[in-house]
Amino acid sequence: MTVYDRIGRGYATTRGPDPRIAAQVVAALGGMTSVVNVGAGTGSYEPAETIVAVEPSSTMIAQRPAGTAACVRGTAEALPLSSGSVDAALAVLTVHHWTDVEAGIAELRRVARKRVVILTWDQRVFREFWLVREYLPAAAAVSAGHAVPIPLIAELLPGARVEPVPVPHDCTDGFGAAFWRRPEAYLDPRVRAGISMLAQAHPRDLVDGLSALTADLESGAWHERHRELSTLDRLDAGYRLIVGG
Ligand SMILES: C[S@@+](CC[C@H](N)C(=O)[O-])C[C@H]1O[C@@H](n2cnc3c(N)ncnc32)[C@H](O)[C@@H]1O
Repeated sequence: MTVYDRIGRGYATTRGPDPRIAAQVVAALGGMTSVVNVGAGTGSYEPAETIVAVEPSSTMIAQRPAGTAACVRGTAEALPLSSGSVDAALAVLTVHHWTDVEAGIAELRRVARKRVVILTWDQRVFREFWLVREYLPAAAAVSAGHAVPIPLIAELLPGARVEPVPVPHDCTDGFGAAFWRRPEAYLDPRVRAGISMLAQAHPRDLVDGLSALTADLESGAWHERHRELSTLDRLDAGYRLIVGG
């Protein structure tokens, strides 16, 4: 059983692609006509040009909507594709789950003739996000333990450019910082189940922080302390696109 066979059961209910982030991913792919989506999950951010998806969890594969690309069960570290068989390889919010990032990125480079696009986060920025900094240090520890350093990815993709991916205030994907201006959302267990740093932390270690957040929302202390957030439409919480090739 893979991790996502356990934590991914309700993934499709809270995790769908945000159209503004999807547009940024499509722009990064820049007209590539054949794409492999690696760590594809339920198919979020998968462009129409995707000819095959690769995903290890059958629970995630089972939630792929009808009409999405054919999906092969496999891992990034050993892609079931021949060398140079696609224009581009895409990996969205997945590298932090790989057991061997260097091998996985070498595989993306092996199968993609022209471009590799990776979406992940920069922990140096993400660790300042109010949820993990002020309330949930246990989740911060999970996220720090999983984070793949951006300089390491850039080193593995020589010449790559790194683009910030700001999170819209009404982001329709439910990843870690998606609810930065909607703090009440983090009190919903279904929302937390779709965020791996919260799903993988021990529930006992989140109790005090969630109680403190509840109290601060009721008293108005959260809104007082984060008044500046209500003036922003987008936030740089550390998400980054790395575009190589
Ligand atoms: C947070 S989900 C992201 C799914 C999808 N890309 C998205 O943006 O919604 C992370 C995915 O990475 C997959 N994954 C975990 N280990 C992997 C590996 N070694 N190779 C490829 N994918 C992996 C998980 O099964 C899961 O579906």
